[in-house]
Amino acid sequence: MTTPALRVSGLTKDFGGLRAVDGVSFQIEEGEFIGLIGPNGSGKTTTFNCISGMLESTTGTIEVLGINATGMRPDQIQRLGLTRTFQHTGLWREMTVVENLLVPPRNQFGSNPLLALLRPGSRNAEKHRISDAYSVLDLLEISHMAHNLASELSGGQSKLVDIGRALMSSPSFLLLDEPVAGVAGPLAEKIFKNLRELTSNQGIGMLVIEHNMDFILRRDIDRVIVMNAGQILMEGTPDEIKRSRDVVEAYLGDSGQAEE
Ligand SMILES: Nc1ncnc2c1ncn2[C@@H]1O[C@H](COP(=O)(O)OP(=O)(O)OP(=O)(O)O)[C@@H](O)[C@H]1O
Ligand SMILES: [Mg+2]
Repeated sequence: MTTPALRVSGLTKDFGGLRAVDGVSFQIEEGEFIGLIGPNGSGKTTTFNCISGMLESTTGTIEVLGINATGMRPDQIQRLGLTRTFQHTGLWREMTVVENLLVPPRNQFGSNPLLALLRPGSRNAEKHRISDAYSVLDLLEISHMAHNLASELSGGQSKLVDIGRALMSSPSFLLLDEPVAGVAGPLAEKIFKNLRELTSNQGIGMLVIEHNMDFILRRDIDRVIVMNAGQILMEGTPDEIKRSRDVVEAYLGDSGQAEE
């Protein structure tokens, strides 16, 4: 038996009287590409926030690659190999694409890029990071934009750069919060194809939040977890999810998003 990349057990998160996440448990193996879907407000982002240490869970445990990460800070969890992106990207607008890859993500490490340079050995590491940054841009097929300012990018291009920044930390596991929201169809297809290849070729596990149920159920993914009202409604292959009346009803209850 191999150690799961991520194991979440009995996760609950209360905001005052509101239980946003209610006893969620699931496990993801190394190299798996898993979708997390659910209507608005069903607790997807809050689950990510608890896993990545941005929020303290009310109850439950989080294990990353077999290590108990419950209660750890975001930077400690990142060092275990788990990196995340955010629903709203936080690129440095006044920096170029490649520069954005060379500074740590705004939220996961704090807001001052200069602090990153104070880390021991940063000068030697710098050369490797530049070559890594171009490899990541190649992988995401955006190396032609390396010297564009982030402020010039479209929403979809910004999402790609954000994924690039996450990949710069050489993660074992990635949590992606709506990586293709607002992205035009062909580019969204390309992003998903590249992500799928990363899981297959480099064994990086991924849990991807996606709002559009039709879109995710047509993708080449291993499994889909469906959340509703803070709980896991169902877990299964895209085909099993498509056949579930419960899932369709949960979405139709949320103003008919299954129709999108
Ligand atoms: N920091 C917070 N304080 C109070 N309530 C919050 C907070 N964050 C989220 N919530 C509430 O928790 C519930 C779950 O929100 P969450 O953002 O996790 O949903 P989601 O599934 O990501 O939704 P969406 O698809 O719209 O992004 C919602 O009712 C939301 O209003
Ligand atoms: Mg969300």
